[in-house]
Amino acid sequence: MLFPDYRPRRMRQNAAFRRLVRETQLRVSDLILPVFAVGGKDVKNPIPSMPGQFQLSRDHLVKLAKSTAELGIPAMILFGLPEKKDPLGTQAYAPNGIVQQAVKAIKDKQPDLAVITDVCLCQYTDHGHCGVVDGNTIDNDASLDLIARTALSHCIAGADMVAPSDMMDGRVAEIRNLLDENDFSHVPIMSYAAKYCSAFYGPFREAADSAPQFGDRRTYQMDPANAVEAIREASMDVEEGADIIMVKPALPYLDIISRIREEIDLPMAAYNVSGEYAMIKAAAQMGWLDGHRVMMEALTAIKRAGTDMILTYFAIEAAELLQNK
Ligand code: PBG
Repeated sequence: MLFPDYRPRRMRQNAAFRRLVRETQLRVSDLILPVFAVGGKDVKNPIPSMPGQFQLSRDHLVKLAKSTAELGIPAMILFGLPEKKDPLGTQAYAPNGIVQQAVKAIKDKQPDLAVITDVCLCQYTDHGHCGVVDGNTIDNDASLDLIARTALSHCIAGADMVAPSDMMDGRVAEIRNLLDENDFSHVPIMSYAAKYCSAFYGPFREAADSAPQFGDRRTYQMDPANAVEAIREASMDVEEGADIIMVKPALPYLDIISRIREEIDLPMAAYNVSGEYAMIKAAAQMGWLDGHRVMMEALTAIKRAGTDMILTYFAIEAAELLQNK
């Protein structure tokens, strides 16, 4: 059908028609809120490069969990800032570590809010890498046991789901085995399957104090130039027992989201990362962009690319807007 027989503008002429033909619906139930847990009491440290985001002590996290649940957001993902760091990241798998304590506190008060924990060593190691360091290299196989132990300790504390973000080879299988052996076969694994070595993580590394102290993460995170490799990474994680496949970052990688959607039949998540958040917030603060509209457009685009859920620092703001619609 061609013009003038077909006129695409017919179905755009009023809001009712536009709603009827809208293909993608961003919903509150698509959103997962990332949060940063710190020790102490009544601590609420603003994160300068992420306006509206804070490092929160347990009492504040519990309050935030309540408002998150009340808005209808299904889940939070927790990152921890330990009091001390060491070469082996021991506080990552300490039974009473920061994430373990925060999970307990939140689940105690908000049992219906799903609490996902980020499983990684980089916030807990003094060198800031996501695995064990041997000279100038990151020892893949030596890291696996510590990563799996971290996941298990989160489950013991009450985590509903674990999300390994280290990008070591074989970690999904290692975690799955250890959880299964310890009666946690019901806990799903959300795998950061295609996680790129991205400069968009800059604000997060400030927020979580997790920048590598030497070198970079290029030997374990993916080269931003690669797409076929993302399919291979995701397929391996499916074989190893992942329940949800994640792509990260989101906006600069919409092609990866849509390719994985076509090739992999598992639920998918996309992580709208700190730098994506910071760009929009900064431009909105300058008055250069309409912050709310750009936020909704970005989240809708990520959903349109094919993901089922979005990890985003915008979760609360977006949920508030969606509720008022
Ligand atoms: C830890 C981790 C990172 C992010 C999530 N988990 C940082 C990194 O890999 O350096 C980034 C999240 C964000 O930028 O919002 N491995």
